[in-house]
Amino acid sequence: MITLLKNIKELIQVRDLSIKKVKGKDMKILPTIKNAFLVIEDEKIIDFGEMTNAPESADKIIDCNGKMVLPTWCDSHTHIVYAGNREQEFVDRINGLSYEEIANKGGGILNSAKKLQETSEAELYHQSAKRLEEIMALGTGAVEIKSGYGLTVDAELKMLRVIKKLKENFSLPIKATFLGAHAFPKEYTENKEGYLTLIINDMLPLIAKENLAEFVDVFCETGYFSVEDTDKILTAANKYGLIPKTHVNQFTAIGGIEVSVKHHALSVDHLEVMNPEDIKVLQGTETMPVALPSCSYFLSIPYTPAREIINAGLPLALATDFNPGSTPSGNMNFVVATACIKMKMTPEEAINAATVNGAYAMNLSDEVGSITKGKKANFIITKEIPSYGFIPYSFGSNLIDSVYINGQLI
Ligand code: NIG
Ligand code: FE
Repeated sequence: MITLLKNIKELIQVRDLSIKKVKGKDMKILPTIKNAFLVIEDEKIIDFGEMTNAPESADKIIDCNGKMVLPTWCDSHTHIVYAGNREQEFVDRINGLSYEEIANKGGGILNSAKKLQETSEAELYHQSAKRLEEIMALGTGAVEIKSGYGLTVDAELKMLRVIKKLKENFSLPIKATFLGAHAFPKEYTENKEGYLTLIINDMLPLIAKENLAEFVDVFCETGYFSVEDTDKILTAANKYGLIPKTHVNQFTAIGGIEVSVKHHALSVDHLEVMNPEDIKVLQGTETMPVALPSCSYFLSIPYTPAREIINAGLPLALATDFNPGSTPSGNMNFVVATACIKMKMTPEEAINAATVNGAYAMNLSDEVGSITKGKKANFIITKEIPSYGFIPYSFGSNLIDSVYINGQLI
C-alpha cells in the first residue's frame, strides 16, 4: 500500500543512506525540506521532496497542513524491563540521603533485583510492555533494553526472555543488552571474583546459546565494577560476539572509557564526570558517546559536558536511561529539551543526537534514525508548530500528533 503525506510544513532530518553518524561541527546541521511530501510503501520510506514534485495519487493521503514530520526517536539506553518502582528512595533522597547512601543501605539496584527475582516472567512482561507502549506514544521508534536487575542466572535469563518476547510482540526495533555486571549481589560482597566467575562461566554461555543478547554492558564505577573487572567481562563476552555498550564516568572517572574503547565499544554512556584525557581517548574511535540528561536531572548530578565533547570533534547521542532508580522517565522529548536547556546543545544538535546518532549507538543506522529512502517508515507527525526549535523550547508540552511505526499508525 502506498501512503502519501502531503503539505508537510517541514520534513526534518532528510539524509542519504551513507550517513551513519554526525559529529563535531556537523551536528549543528539538520537537513530539512520545507513544504514537503513523503511517500511510504508498506513499512518503508520510498520517496520525499518538495510539494511541487509530489505525486498526485496514492492509496491513502494524509494532509499534514501546518505540521512537521521527523523520524521517531532512537532511545539507545534503557532499562525498561523492571519490577515495581522505587518511589520510597526518591522520597529518601528528597529528605537528604544520596543515591550512593541509599545503595549502600541495600537500596538501589539490589532493591530492584529483589523485586524482580520475586516477580513472575508473565507479570514482568506485563509491566514492561506497558512502559514500551508509553514510550512509543511519546515518539520512540527504536529502543535498546538492558538486563541487570536479575543478578542471578535465572533472573537475568528471565529479564532477557522478557525482552525477547517484547521483540516478538512489538513492531519497533528492540536491541537486547546483557548487563549482569550491574551490581554485586549481597551474597558476593566478600567474594567479588565469585560473581565475575558466575557471569563469565554460567550466564554468558547460556545467553549466547539462547541468542538472548547482542550487546554486553558493565557498570564500571567506584563501588561497582572496576576497570579490571570490566576488562575481564568484556574479554569473555567478546568470545560470544557480544558488542560492548558500557556505563562509565557516571560518578567518578576511573578509566572506564579507555577500557571500553580498547574493546571497541559501540557506545560509552553517562559521561557526567569527564577528564580532558577521557575526551582524547574517544577521538579517532568509532565509539559513540551517549549522554543521559534525564538521569542528571533526576539525581541532581552534573550534566554530560556536551559542548566539550562536540567541540572536540566527537559525535554525541542522547538517550533516556529509563529505569526505576536514577531515571523513571522514558520521554525522549524531555531528553531533547533538557539537552538544549541544560547542556547548551542547539535544537539541531539535540535532534541529530536523538535520531541518527541514537540509531548508530544501537547498530541500527541502516534501518532508522532519518528520513531516508529504504529506511523504515518510523516517523512522528507533530501538532501545528511554528518551527522545530519549538520541540525543545516548549519543554513539558506534548507536541506529538501521531506516531507511525513500519508505516502503521500506533
Ligand atoms: O544507568 N548507573 C547504573 N545503572 C542505572 C541506574 C540503576 C538504578 O538505580 O536502578 C543508570 O543510571
Ligand atoms: Fe543505565
